[in-house]
Amino acid sequence: MLRVLGIESSCDETAAAVVCGDGTVLSDVVRSQAATHALHGGVVPEVASRDHLRAIEAVVSESLQNASMHHAQIDAIAVTCRPGLVGGLLVGLQFAKTLAWAWDKPLVGVDHLFGHLVSPFLRRDGEDCRESLAEAPPAGPMVSLLVSGGHTAIYRVDALLPERVTELGATRDDAAGEAYDKVAKLLGLGYPGGPAIDKLAALGDANAHLSTTGPQSFTTPMPHSEEFSFSGLKTQVARYVEQHGRPTGDTLANVCARFQRAVVDSLVTKLFRAAERECVAMVALGGGVAANSELKARVMREAKARGMQALIPSLSSATDNAAMIAYAGALMFASGTRDDLTLSAHNRTAFVTFLTTPSPFS
Ligand code: KG4
Ligand code: ZN
Repeated sequence: MLRVLGIESSCDETAAAVVCGDGTVLSDVVRSQAATHALHGGVVPEVASRDHLRAIEAVVSESLQNASMHHAQIDAIAVTCRPGLVGGLLVGLQFAKTLAWAWDKPLVGVDHLFGHLVSPFLRRDGEDCRESLAEAPPAGPMVSLLVSGGHTAIYRVDALLPERVTELGATRDDAAGEAYDKVAKLLGLGYPGGPAIDKLAALGDANAHLSTTGPQSFTTPMPHSEEFSFSGLKTQVARYVEQHGRPTGDTLANVCARFQRAVVDSLVTKLFRAAERECVAMVALGGGVAANSELKARVMREAKARGMQALIPSLSSATDNAAMIAYAGALMFASGTRDDLTLSAHNRTAFVTFLTTPSPFS
């Protein structure tokens, strides 16, 4: 059975994992820098690069140890080469190239977003099967919603290979996770903001009256478009805080609930509209925001109502990790992909399709 070492360093997690060709995770080591960046209220690229450099060797060694493997038993090395913070990407890429050269192993460069798209198909011991266990490769085409701190887009996935993925629509400005993080900062909830807002939203009422002046409903634009926009929603929360001060207690919970409802409404509506139009029987989530409790519940409910299958990765597969990169690399390697030592890092994904729809703003 194929065994691939995966390396991930595109944002603020230094990660390495060993995964089999069928998606079975043998080890998965993630060293998060979140506590360091929390001091600055967001990821500081230069700090991230230096931290990756300090951590990478230990993280890769630990991933081999945890899988009880010697490097001689590895068939290929997969590494995230795009998109992300180029300084961080270069650390992982250079380390992977060095290992590929020194150990004489094939190298496969992986688009981080493709890693997120295959993440629901990872097989981990003891995982909750209701949410995560799916047949790999999937029996038919699916529509996937990728929602993370850096990306928000919908894809048609005809097979688990990059050339069989088509972007259907993406955000025009902030990613959903970025909106969560920025709104959490405005509300004084720290970084990363998603989990904190999610928890408070569960205690709040999205329909509660917020104030006698100012915005009564937080909204997202372009309801009929395939694309997303979250920066206006963030501005609406900023205006609310300017007018009323930082909310506390029940009002804070209600603001979180209303913000979250607007984000989830936009994501879920567009996901299922795309799924119906593409005539697929399967929808999937990926990325850190896939951990959101309201989003997961809504996607499961809406899928059931339409007789569709919903694939929702477990928390460890949804947030940034190297197991998804190793599995993506294994699928690509099995289909013949090989990169050489000229492989380079890019800040943009290769999946962006040029916008063909007229701008809803024009
Ligand atoms: O995929 P990920 O780990 O890293 C990126 O590639 O960006 O996603 C991190 C993002 C952060 O913006 C974080 O606030 C968000 O995922 N997030 C959540 C939740 N847990 C993490 N957003 C909403 N609800 C959550 N429960
Ligand atoms: Zn990610």
